[in-house]
Amino acid sequence: MKPPIVIAVDGTSASGKSTTSKHLAKLLGFVYVDTGAMYRTLGWYCLKHQIDVNAERTVANTCRRWNTTLECADGQVHLLVDGVNPGRELRTSEVSTATSRIAANAKVREWMKRRQRECLQFGSLVMEGRDIGTNVFPETDFKYFLDAHLEERARRRAAEGVHENLAARDQQDSQRAAAPLMIALGAKVINNSGMTIPATCDIIIADLRQKGAAVELRPAAS
Ligand code: C5P
Repeated sequence: MKPPIVIAVDGTSASGKSTTSKHLAKLLGFVYVDTGAMYRTLGWYCLKHQIDVNAERTVANTCRRWNTTLECADGQVHLLVDGVNPGRELRTSEVSTATSRIAANAKVREWMKRRQRECLQFGSLVMEGRDIGTNVFPETDFKYFLDAHLEERARRRAAEGVHENLAARDQQDSQRAAAPLMIALGAKVINNSGMTIPATCDIIIADLRQKGAAVELRPAAS
């Protein structure tokens, strides 16, 4: 059996990472991992249990003790907490803001990195986030960084019914000391403003092949 490979997709908020990664995973028959959802689950959990997201030690302790499991269903990994997937509740602007705070916590990031690397048990991965190519799987040869103009990104989020200050979140993500958002060495940068999701996937697949990745399109998905 071929060893599993990891495609790391990082980028700014609302740059199309999720939709692109999901589509790409389906095309290639890989498992999709949304690491933002894992961080959001902790942000949501803190809000739900009235844990101060700025209290570093308390949040780190919470993360050490909460009752979680990784589940792979329909080609996607979910982090369950007390057996529950919070789903849409993770997508509010309150959860986004809380999440950016807990994501700056170095102990939280260590915990998340361990869980994210455990996802390899499910097979080859398309993993999206902010630090996948720089920190979680720095050894992978397949790194992509997505971006789009701020106005377009704000439009995309508004279309999902969420109004938030994306520039502020990007700034917080880029300026934190622990694994900040940045372009990994060797990553291919794709500005997908005005580009369709299949077109972005085509660029990634062409690059994967050029780099010698043994990827094949699944007949049902192409
Ligand atoms: O991608 P998404 O917008 O769902 O991520 C929510 C937040 O989680 C980001 O703004 C960032 O603070 C944090 N995050 C992170 N590292 C990742 C994924 C997400 O710091 N790998």
